[in-house]
Amino acid sequence: MRRLLKCNFFLTLRKQTLIKAMRKKNILFILSIVVVGFILQSFVVIKPQEDETNKAVISKKNGDVSHFFGLNCMSCHKNFRNAEKFGRFTVAGSVFDEARARIHKNPIIKLYTEPKAQGKLVATINGDKLGNFFTTENIDFTRNGLYPVLIGSPTATESIKYMQTPIFKGDCNSCHGPRAEALGID
Ligand code: HEC
Ligand code: HEC
Repeated sequence: MRRLLKCNFFLTLRKQTLIKAMRKKNILFILSIVVVGFILQSFVVIKPQEDETNKAVISKKNGDVSHFFGLNCMSCHKNFRNAEKFGRFTVAGSVFDEARARIHKNPIIKLYTEPKAQGKLVATINGDKLGNFFTTENIDFTRNGLYPVLIGSPTATESIKYMQTPIFKGDCNSCHGPRAEALGID
């Protein structure tokens, strides 16, 4: 990259009269590298440890292997050709603090068959210290959907929050952030 840039730089020097045009080209060149790099990243195939191939990948308290806080995890962890190798997430998302200023470490998500934490508890996902939660477990959303519950620290003013309507897919960040208020708890 450096050498390419240098090379371009000398070309620019030689063609003094075309300096302006070349500058534009350099910018376009750098932009295209960035774009191509981003696209290539999307096709990265992750080689899981042999013994982990069939194990569910689940976030855990104080874990730190996740990334892309706030983005819709499933935009990648579902549609990739090799998604099953690095996690076809069934439920995933991110949680801020109440002020939506910083991340909330180790959030807890529970999914129930009825509103307000009633009915059957179908899943509990312990989020990590980066504020993200994710799982590849098979989760039955049933025909009626599931009701998410978000649990913060016991000392918070509002330490538990209930989604009133059911969800049929676990891609929390596809709504929370872009279409509904980002998830947040203290
Ligand atoms: C732009 C695409 C993209 C988005 C968005 C994305 N990921 Fe990833 N994720 C990847 C790729 C590619 C890998 C494998 C390479 C790596 O570790 O960077 C990965 C790896 C991971 C891993 C490691 C899996 C393992 O088996 O070790 C976790 C955990 C993870 N992502 C969680 C998340 C969470 C949670 C979100 C949403 C907050 C998310 N990712 C959003 C592309 C993405
Ligand atoms: C289809 C869009 C959508 C999806 C997907 C979604 N939500 Fe929501 N969520 C909303 C909307 C809209 C509200 C506000 C109305 C309500 O509670 O039904 C809400 C409210 C909430 C609340 C209550 C917030 C408060 O301040 O009281 C929590 C907690 C919550 N959602 C958690 C989740 C979790 C966890 C997931 C993923 C497992 C998720 N939601 C998936 C749209 C969505």
